[in-house]
Amino acid sequence: MHSFWLRANAVLTFSVIILAFTCAMASVSDCFNSPSPSAQIQITNINWFQKQRNGNEEVSLAMNITADLQSLFTWNTKQVFVFVAAEYKTPKNAVNQVSLWDAIIPAKEQSKFRVQTVNKYRFIDQGSNLRGKDLNLTLHWHVMPKAGMMFADKLVIPGYRLPKEYR
Ligand SMILES: *[C@@H]1O[C@H](CO)[C@@H](O)[C@H](O)[C@H]1NC(C)=O
Ligand SMILES: *[C@@H]1O[C@H](CO)[C@@H](O)[C@H](O)[C@H]1NC(C)=O
Repeated sequence: MHSFWLRANAVLTFSVIILAFTCAMASVSDCFNSPSPSAQIQITNINWFQKQRNGNEEVSLAMNITADLQSLFTWNTKQVFVFVAAEYKTPKNAVNQVSLWDAIIPAKEQSKFRVQTVNKYRFIDQGSNLRGKDLNLTLHWHVMPKAGMMFADKLVIPGYRLPKEYR
């Protein structure tokens, strides 16, 4: 009996060590994988613009998002959360970030895509800064691994300017 528990304990300890080692290797191998995703985001139309009663401005956009995120996927990738945001400066804030669209990509096979969409989340400015505003369109990703640390990064597509006048 005594030796059984001793042995069971040894087996358990050994498998915990193997598990820890595997997890460590999984995250280390992720560190050596330097991903190189690519993306294009085009605003294809300004659908409408409105000034709310409280003075805040809102705009509705149509966009084409093309991305190749295949290199984010390794054998250790569980899923990738991706979102597109508009980032711009205002007198109040150095960076305003408004999320426009997002998705969860469960597999490498779905990580090269083209989406034609209107903004999924409302693009509202807490003020009246949207007319003629220069903004960066950004594609952010959060890679959720099976083991190890989550990591996040983004691509910046600078140089979009909202129209000065709206019909
Ligand atoms: C946006 O995507 C659609 C469908 O893929 C395509 O027909 C259209 O030409 C694209 N527009 C621009 C401006 O690239
Ligand atoms: C937009 O992108 C440019 C170039 O990457 C950067 O210098 C600038 O700070 C960005 N603006 C905002 C508001 O993030």
